[in-house]
Amino acid sequence: ATAVEHTFVVSEMKMTHLCNETLVTVVNGQLPGPAIEVTEGDSVSVHVVNKSPHNITIHWHGLKQRLNCWADGVPMVTQCPIRPAHNMTYRLNVTGQEGTLWWHAHVSGLRASLHGAFIIRPRHAYPFPKPHKEIPIVIGEWWSLNLAQLAKNMEDGYYDDSSSATTINGKLGDLYNCSGVVEDGLVLDVEPGKTYMLRLLNAALYSEYYVKIAGHEFTVVGADANYVRPFTTDVLAIGPGETLDALVVASATPGKYYMVAVGGQAPKPDIQIPETRSRATVRYAIGAGNGDEAAPPVVPEMPDQHDFMVSFNFHGNLSSPNRTGSPPVPATADESLFVVLRMGSICRGGRLSCKRSGSKESIIVETMNNVSFQLPAAAAATPLLEELYYDNRGNGTTVGGGLDELYTLPDRPAKPFNYTDRALIPWGPNEAWLEPTEKATVARRFRHGTVVDIVFQNAAMMDTDNHPMHLHGHDMFVLAQGHDNYDAVRDVARYNVVDPPLKNTVLVPRLGWAAVRFVADNPGVWYMHCHYELHVSIGMAAVFVIEDGPTLESALPPPPLDFPKCNQ
Ligand code: C2O
Ligand code: CU
Repeated sequence: ATAVEHTFVVSEMKMTHLCNETLVTVVNGQLPGPAIEVTEGDSVSVHVVNKSPHNITIHWHGLKQRLNCWADGVPMVTQCPIRPAHNMTYRLNVTGQEGTLWWHAHVSGLRASLHGAFIIRPRHAYPFPKPHKEIPIVIGEWWSLNLAQLAKNMEDGYYDDSSSATTINGKLGDLYNCSGVVEDGLVLDVEPGKTYMLRLLNAALYSEYYVKIAGHEFTVVGADANYVRPFTTDVLAIGPGETLDALVVASATPGKYYMVAVGGQAPKPDIQIPETRSRATVRYAIGAGNGDEAAPPVVPEMPDQHDFMVSFNFHGNLSSPNRTGSPPVPATADESLFVVLRMGSICRGGRLSCKRSGSKESIIVETMNNVSFQLPAAAAATPLLEELYYDNRGNGTTVGGGLDELYTLPDRPAKPFNYTDRALIPWGPNEAWLEPTEKATVARRFRHGTVVDIVFQNAAMMDTDNHPMHLHGHDMFVLAQGHDNYDAVRDVARYNVVDPPLKNTVLVPRLGWAAVRFVADNPGVWYMHCHYELHVSIGMAAVFVIEDGPTLESALPPPPLDFPKCNQ
């Protein structure tokens, strides 16, 4: 194992796309930011130097951070943010994980430009023939809006739910032009007969993406840095926060082929949603018999962007290979939660003043079991993780009393109802369907080692997006997914407890549900939230507080000596 070091200088920079000069916050002047490439077992230090005017934290998405919650990078949950002109070193350990993950800022919309790949290669060998080359593919977005403004709009519950353009590795591609000048797209040069491994991640704030390459198929071998039983498909579906490893053999007639990423969208009658699409070119080596060099690349036939069954089927195809060393699925759960994901409204001037949601008096929020998450007040001055650490050691509550203010996430919604009734999709703010709700710092506390089942039920309330639910610090077994209302008796029988895939982000299908199981054995305070930025910024989140285990090897160690403070 080696010690790998990186320095991330965060600063603002002007970039021009789509005829517009915009100020973006980036790492080391790059968009996407630098890829971290390590070998399993390495120890990794990243020195973050904040030269931007924003408070920053960096989250290592999908890294399990065993006994290392201090480095998880969630503001006021695990740490005080790194303030302008301040620094912080994240010390990470990448033992026991292989595949593609990523890093991103965990401060609102800024992650749209502060992200990059985190690649963990195996110490020994891949469980498949070594690919000729590995190519990171980062799907992102370009926004005409200043991202700090976008973040502010989102927190106010106001948004335009489509980005200005889709990017592949930061490039818009030739579908976009500015005053007659076509933008560049990514070009992947391949040699006939060779196998390439695409390491894909979806860093977009909103859209799930469908990805295809004309004339080629993918063999999916990994998802969320867990190997999967290989399967072949001509289309990939990747939700925000998800990662995929896919092999592509350059086996077509030598030539040029487009790789297209198109944003999946729920159909919304009466609302015009511009399609977001980007394309890159797969180009066979010159001299490989490319034929007509001037001929345009072959265009793939894409699925309909509203066809969410493409995503449902793709995710249903994921399963774990039988590998020695892969963790067994616990046969039963100690605790079960039924979590309804839904919109709600909060009235500014008391409930009676809210005649119509969307009016000035009320704001729309996202909820889990009818509570909308709010981060602990910055005035608390102590992140939840520090509160937990000192509480556990009998030091009592520190200044803010943060842990005492936590609101327990209910086991289930107060009133069951028909969650997927199509008649309830009004496609516009409709007071009748927006439950009045509250904001709170929602948490759930688990004893060390508890086996937890969660059924996420997606409720058809105005928005019919699927929700990519992401848990920090743990992988979850995805036991089943289904359409319509979850039925405990019928659906438990369908749980896959033999070879379910392990994911850190589970896509809860629109008008449907997903069931997961995980072992709460990593002490700390872990964020659990939807990876659509709008949804998390207006409350679709909670924290899981996991207690120390009985031994030194299962208890959270003390914070690093250079851990940032909130007020100095
Ligand atoms: Cu990738 Cu809490 O997020
Ligand atoms: Cu969501």
